[in-house]
Amino acid sequence: MEKTFSYPSNLSKRERYTAFIEDYTTMIEGEDDLVSLLANTAAALHEAFGFFWVGFYLVHDETWLHLGPFQGPVACTRIKRGRGVCGTAWAEELTVVVPDVDQFPGHIACSSASRSEIVVPLLNTEGKVAGVLDIDSEHLNTFDDVDKDGLEGVVKALMGNIG
Ligand code: SME
Repeated sequence: MEKTFSYPSNLSKRERYTAFIEDYTTMIEGEDDLVSLLANTAAALHEAFGFFWVGFYLVHDETWLHLGPFQGPVACTRIKRGRGVCGTAWAEELTVVVPDVDQFPGHIACSSASRSEIVVPLLNTEGKVAGVLDIDSEHLNTFDDVDKDGLEGVVKALMGNIG
């Protein structure tokens, strides 16, 4: 299977997400293995958007998030529910956009290069959080409502395959 996720540089961010979700939906069709899906999702998002760090944390024993498949520098392996941006998105069951990580109380700095962040919860068919998609940027103010909408669309397609 040869699949690339590179897009023309003249596309707007919203157009890029639209094109990405179309290609992504084709890529994941028929696959329901969690690790395989998460690994290819991280790789595809990394290729399409050039994010500094993109990956997953998965709920473990209702107390911890454990590091899952990702692309980027080595990261923290465990995050407690309600802690950091990831643990907050889990506890509140909402996407959290952080324009400046230094202004987010309790932010967990896995890398000192990370300056802004977005975390999208993965909701399973019962509406429970199964994990989170976490993306970090080396720049301030990287993520906005276009990223929120686009990444929630990616996560919806992903979770539709897992059930
Ligand atoms: N900054 C995150 C921790 C995970 S790393 O960014 C990969 C947080 O505060 O939850």
